[in-house]
Amino acid sequence: MNKYPVQLQNGTAVITGAANGIGLEIAKHAHQLNMNLVLADINFDQLLRFKEDLLLTESKTLLLKTDVSQEAEIEHLCIKAYEKFGSVELLCNNAGVSLNRLSWKHSHQDWEWLMNVNLFSVAHGIRYFVPRMLEQGTPAYIVNTASAAGLLSTPGMAAYNASKHAVVTLSETLFQELHSIDAKIHVSVLCPAWVPTQIHLAQRNRPERFGAHQDPSDPVSLQYEDRMSNAVQAGKMSASEIADEVFQAIEKQQFYIIPHRKINSLIEQRHHEITHLQNPKVSVS
Ligand SMILES: NC(=O)c1ccc[n+]([C@@H]2O[C@H](COP(=O)([O-])OP(=O)(O)OC[C@H]3O[C@@H](n4cnc5c(N)ncnc54)[C@H](O)[C@@H]3O)[C@@H](O)[C@H]2O)c1
Repeated sequence: MNKYPVQLQNGTAVITGAANGIGLEIAKHAHQLNMNLVLADINFDQLLRFKEDLLLTESKTLLLKTDVSQEAEIEHLCIKAYEKFGSVELLCNNAGVSLNRLSWKHSHQDWEWLMNVNLFSVAHGIRYFVPRMLEQGTPAYIVNTASAAGLLSTPGMAAYNASKHAVVTLSETLFQELHSIDAKIHVSVLCPAWVPTQIHLAQRNRPERFGAHQDPSDPVSLQYEDRMSNAVQAGKMSASEIADEVFQAIEKQQFYIIPHRKINSLIEQRHHEITHLQNPKVSVS
């Protein structure tokens, strides 16, 4: 019996940032459900290795080298997914990159890189896939990967925080719109805290057109960078556990996916500060 609100078994999953970390584990989980996999990543070699490791077959797999910061590549991803499999049951707008430094040390190109990869990729994913999902007539599910950083405002991550807050509100807006037209498309937003992946080494994937990565030179930014790197590597929930949470949430049609429940008190504190007009409590790094 199908326990999901969409036909995942034998359906099609499109996952961006599928070559590593959370995206890779979502892809493994989808594979266990016998889904067709459309895997998109800027790192094509790593996608190929994944395909070989899991003995994925040609007929059930489509690997696409995709730079999600480019609208045309998301359009291409959508066209190719529908061309090969005819419908998409699960879209995970997951690819993301991070950067740590003081707000005023982010360059214009830093902002463009983070906003294009973390936010515009999700906006374009919605722009291209939702109309096709509405047309396909069968239910579909969209999971947008935001972050705990989309619910809080940790210092040292201005562009990351801004991009992830935007993904949360974009997802909330989409949720309401789809409900208002009775669409058979469900949405969730994934907001994990620290997960041991390679996110702290995101500069490895910085496309040239956003300029070369510059290491921060001031001591405070360096401290922020170290703090994030240590926190990611010490993350208590694995990417595989995060993927499990995603599929449990799909089953329950649960919109907010917040695997690290410990951040609840911080979310409540922020909301308390807002509603009581209190100044933000300063985090100690
Ligand atoms: N790891 C964490 O602590 C954490 C916490 C909260 C949210 N997240 C979010 O989870 C998502 C996945 O990150 P992760 O932790 O698995 O990191 P990761 O670096 O291990 O994996 C990210 C994947 O995205 C790909 N990618 C990067 N830029 C791309 C681009 N321009 N086009 C296509 N693919 C690109 C990378 O090649 C990589 O395979 C991101 O959106 C991240 O912001 C991560």
